[in-house]
Amino acid sequence: MSKQRVLSGIQPSGKLHIGNLVGALQNWVRLQDQYECYYFIADWHALTSQYADTSALKDNVLDVLVNCLAAGLDPEKATIFAQSRVIEHAELHVLLSMITPLSWLERVPTYKEKQQEVTDRDLNTYGFLGYPLLQSADILMYRAHYVPVGIDQMPHLEITREIGRRFNNFYGEVFPEPEGLLTPFPKVVGTDGRKMSKTYDNCIYLSDPPQDVEQKIRTMTTDPQRIKRTDKGDPELSPVYHLHKVFSSKEEIDQVADGCRTAGIGCIDCKKVLIKNVFAVLEPLWQQRERYLREPDVLEDILEAGSKKARQAATDTMLKVRTAMGLGPMK
Ligand code: TRP
Repeated sequence: MSKQRVLSGIQPSGKLHIGNLVGALQNWVRLQDQYECYYFIADWHALTSQYADTSALKDNVLDVLVNCLAAGLDPEKATIFAQSRVIEHAELHVLLSMITPLSWLERVPTYKEKQQEVTDRDLNTYGFLGYPLLQSADILMYRAHYVPVGIDQMPHLEITREIGRRFNNFYGEVFPEPEGLLTPFPKVVGTDGRKMSKTYDNCIYLSDPPQDVEQKIRTMTTDPQRIKRTDKGDPELSPVYHLHKVFSSKEEIDQVADGCRTAGIGCIDCKKVLIKNVFAVLEPLWQQRERYLREPDVLEDILEAGSKKARQAATDTMLKVRTAMGLGPMK
């Protein structure tokens, strides 16, 4: 029996941080043995909002690729590729655009939200409106059963299902309905307690040297009410505690929570435990990163070989799509 397919993508819109590691990459690694996995770098998606200055794009693509491999994705098991190297995604996007009502795109919540949030760039573009449709093309292309994503991506999955259904209604059954696989840690807080995001400048990047990681954790905000060492604190108000829940053992989590509530431990002690646990996760990743960064040719080969495999799967789907839509050969 052939394995069910999993597909997911990550946007190279900046350097990856520990939120991307625990929210996406570690989950992708877990899935690679059980499913036929397609994981890709969504470089066209990055262009939908960062089109004016593309000077960092190549470096960001490299950063995503290196981190995927360093986190344990195995190119022998999973197909790792770049969206822009499988131009069939553009063909499917244009064909799906024919059947997509504008109102479906305009009502996707991330559309208006991000337009309001981002003030330094003009997102009144055709490409940005089409962001979720490009994502639908990514997913439908591989006739994926499961799509591991964070909860913020659920509206994009919903529209993907609607578009797949509409296509099947018009032209016959081509696309199965993809299901979201929610990641265990959808949101990781940043060093200031807001969600970890490069816009807030509160990230711990996977490319940060160890001393920066340590420094960032040491200077994290804690419960703002706990000013003196003898003050009792509320762990739930401390972003340090939130990171403990992601990186520390059950016992350590209980110990630091109790120590905070009773003023049994100080914030520095609490942070030291976190630093130890974050380092335990990042140290093997740093080693692997260095290994891959020394071999840019190997990286290029891995990405091209994965893209070639993805193109084969995409070619299969596009034959079905073209035939279904009346675009096949004339005899
Ligand atoms: N929009 C996704 C994100 O920002 C990235 C993405 C693009 C994606 N295409 C995809 C995720 C297809 C899953 C499937 O995280």
